[in-house]
Amino acid sequence: MLMKNKLRAVQHDSNVCADIEGFDFDNYSADDIAQVRSYWLQYGVLRFKSTTMTDEQQVAFSRHFGEFVIHPKQLQEGGHPTHKEILVISNAMTDGKPSGAMGNSEATWHTDTWFYERPPAGAILRAVAVPPSGGDTYFLSTYLAYDTLPDALKKSVDGRQIFFQNVYDKTGKLRLGKSVPSSRDFREWSGIVHPLVRAHGETGRKSLYLGGTAEGAWIVGMPLDESEALLAELWDHTTNSKLVFVQQWNVGDIMMWDNRCTMHRRDGFDPATIRIMHRTTTSGERPV
Ligand code: OGA
Ligand code: MN
Repeated sequence: MLMKNKLRAVQHDSNVCADIEGFDFDNYSADDIAQVRSYWLQYGVLRFKSTTMTDEQQVAFSRHFGEFVIHPKQLQEGGHPTHKEILVISNAMTDGKPSGAMGNSEATWHTDTWFYERPPAGAILRAVAVPPSGGDTYFLSTYLAYDTLPDALKKSVDGRQIFFQNVYDKTGKLRLGKSVPSSRDFREWSGIVHPLVRAHGETGRKSLYLGGTAEGAWIVGMPLDESEALLAELWDHTTNSKLVFVQQWNVGDIMMWDNRCTMHRRDGFDPATIRIMHRTTTSGERPV
């Protein structure tokens, strides 16, 4: 092993996140990356506190974890002026236009781009500017969500598939390239089917895959009212967990999550204050 850094992972009580100490973004080896990768698979969410990482370093670091995925928002307001790999999440306005995606609103619990055939495996989110209050980001483990399901619920989800419509986003806006559907039943719209319980492509562990919202989701083959009731129960179980990690950002903080076994959400914040984050995203396997 050719380690350049002496790394340490300090796990939080939440059980879903560890702080990685001792990583030098100016000087690391392939073995350091392998160590980070193994922590990432073990903990699901990693935090690197108060780094001085640049955009160039973020792109170079992310590249070690897989192919880049271009988020749909990167083709809209969330594009970065010089690094096409970076998604800009920002509520700042430039010349009367948003200079990034997501604005200042709250983002409810989700896993990223669940409506893709192959949702991303990883995301690396770095704080560039933080507001004095608000805008915290919360993380939970969907391994734990599955493991802690009561047996009866486990039986009702095992082997099931879930359909997600991919025409409208959570705010009711048409997604890029989609048109208004003719049917009133969302189950007939364009969408994607994933397993409701997925096995992680690298660890093999099972997790509950609820996507980003219970609305416009259907457990395939189940009467709609039953599916809605079951999904409501699964969402409650997952998001009422006490094992949630809360990230209160400082400039330079980096959160790196495994999008295959975690969910996250964000608090809103005062629109008169500025919050800017730079995110890179790496590709994942088709859920099975
Ligand atoms: C994301 C996201 C939350 C945040 O990057 O996928 O949901 O805290 N961001 O900005
Ligand atoms: Mn997200």
